[in-house]
Amino acid sequence: GVEKKILVIPGDGIGQEVTAWGQKVLMAIAKNYHHTFTFEEGIMGHVAIEATGDPLPEETLQKARNSDAILFGAIGHAKYDNDPTLKVRPEQGLLKIRKELGLYANLRPIKLFDELLEASSIKPEILRGSDILFFRELTGDVYFGEKIRTADRNTASDLMIYHRYEVERIARKAYDAARTRRKKLCSVDKANVLEASRLWREVVQEVAKEYPDVETEHMFIDNAAMQLIKDPKRFDVVVTGNLFGDILTDEASQIAGSMGMLASASIGDSTGFFEPIHGSAHDIAGKGIANPLASILSVALMLDISFGLKTESQRVIKAVEATLRQGFRTMDIANKHTENHCIMGTDAMGAKVLENLN
Ligand code: NAD
Ligand code: IPM
Ligand code: MN
Repeated sequence: GVEKKILVIPGDGIGQEVTAWGQKVLMAIAKNYHHTFTFEEGIMGHVAIEATGDPLPEETLQKARNSDAILFGAIGHAKYDNDPTLKVRPEQGLLKIRKELGLYANLRPIKLFDELLEASSIKPEILRGSDILFFRELTGDVYFGEKIRTADRNTASDLMIYHRYEVERIARKAYDAARTRRKKLCSVDKANVLEASRLWREVVQEVAKEYPDVETEHMFIDNAAMQLIKDPKRFDVVVTGNLFGDILTDEASQIAGSMGMLASASIGDSTGFFEPIHGSAHDIAGKGIANPLASILSVALMLDISFGLKTESQRVIKAVEATLRQGFRTMDIANKHTENHCIMGTDAMGAKVLENLN
């Protein structure tokens, strides 16, 4: 077996509820396949601000640097969402750890389990067979450009900025992945208006020449948002900037049935970082009803991408599939049309997946 050090950062709200199950799945895999996974815990977000005044304490960052992979939940608290004047904010922790660890590529696979065909608000015949892999650039764009607020507080701006090397490296990652899939890549930008997008498109066009076997398409973000819902099957790999990727993937969660189903892997220069795409979900936090599958599927990505444990990764995905086939559902993926579903909370659902792992 292999030996790995995993840092678990549950964060805030439902992050804590779902990450517990991601970790339990890791423990079960270690036991079944004779691996040694050792766990450390780190604080980030609102809980870290409360404890230390800092959304990403130095200690958490150090632990992150010293780990082989990181399992993250979510950060965020209604207090900050309701008061835009607060200077220290949970989200700063997440942005900082992404930047510090050089996690420039955020992979967000949108794969619909057949069992969930009826869970989405989109028609099953439109959805069936959808399988998209998003490459969201994660350490550039308007997220990290200069922010200005004038002294009179009446004007504000965020600089949308990309450098050639940033576009090149994410484009190469996306093309490499397209080669192993259906060999189609769609680059999404707003090059008809934005200079940063014109650089983006120019660089992607250049990188495309290195991949003549992959079919390249360029699409404007507004059209992409529409095409995604109209005909999701037309997409294979999608590569886009930080902000557009953030928005498009929440939209795309409806192709997989729910936000509670979407996992992600952030990779780059060093340690891989694995997290659901969803947030701390104030509306359901503390109720024990959050879907733990996004966290569990993030663990499947960790096993595959960071540890190269493909069999173990597939085992986790199969256990999720089996659980869904048995009719077990959290509220967000419950299908209104069938009565033979058993709707349950986070812990009961997580326990079913564990049973299916053994
Ligand atoms: P959200 O993703 O937290 O929730 C959006 C909707 O999806 C809510 O209705 C929620 O109940 C539902 N949902 C999300 N995850 C679910 C799950 N596992 N099971 C069932 N339903 C689920 O987005 P929001 O409400 O816009 O943001 C809430 C807070 O989370 C904000 O403070 C925001 O900044 C933060 N946030 C953090 C992350 C992150 O940590 N990566 C991501 C997005 C938002
Ligand atoms: C995500 C979140 C974050 C983002 C926020 C919380 C900073 O929405 O991980 O998708 O915008 O990247
Ligand atoms: Mn988001």
